[in-house]
Amino acid sequence: MRGAKSAAGLPDAGQALTRLAEEAAGCERCALYRHATQAVFGEGPDDAAIMLVGEQPGDQEDKAGRPFVGPAGRILERAVTEAGLDKAGVYLTNAVKHFKHEMRGKRRMHQRPNQGEVEACRWWLDHELAVVRPSVVVGLGVTAARVLLGRPVVLARDGGRPLRLAEGRQGLMTLHPAAILRVPDEEARRQAYLRLVGDLRRAAALAGLEATEAGR
Ligand code: URA
Repeated sequence: MRGAKSAAGLPDAGQALTRLAEEAAGCERCALYRHATQAVFGEGPDDAAIMLVGEQPGDQEDKAGRPFVGPAGRILERAVTEAGLDKAGVYLTNAVKHFKHEMRGKRRMHQRPNQGEVEACRWWLDHELAVVRPSVVVGLGVTAARVLLGRPVVLARDGGRPLRLAEGRQGLMTLHPAAILRVPDEEARRQAYLRLVGDLRRAAALAGLEATEAGR
């Protein structure tokens, strides 16, 4: 935990994050809370050098109340480790804190959040950024990238390179792990995964982190 600093009116970053997560649990800033099990707030060290921002919790995250615990999370965890990062040292969160879905039979199918929902939810992300103050923010997929850059994003153009974000933060945009899972061709999927690993490695270098054994 980092030393004394002021966030959300509290002297300590850990307390500030706990308070924010408690407040987010009652969030009604948009209508998504009505059909979700719970808000899924970010997780990780309050002084993480790297923050990874996804789109929104999926079905399993919605039930567990934790980000990236489902299939996309497993790919992300593997990529983080291969990139030489210590997963426990990374702060994981999402642009939108409630699971947006539609029912197909008994299945809850992911739906992309609309701009109004993303804008309503950025209040939480802005506070997480203000408290954690990561050196590098990685946007996973276009929803997160758009929130972080404040404009529509084309990953083919904006991905994989350092970008300046609001308040002078460094950012790097890359593929969403769920998008990698959806690539039908095995070789193309492997290439997409390697791109994610490479981008995470670049983010680690930007943050000035040394690679762990696994990523060397
Ligand atoms: N996809 C996301 O963007 N975030 C999660 O937490 C899980 C899946």
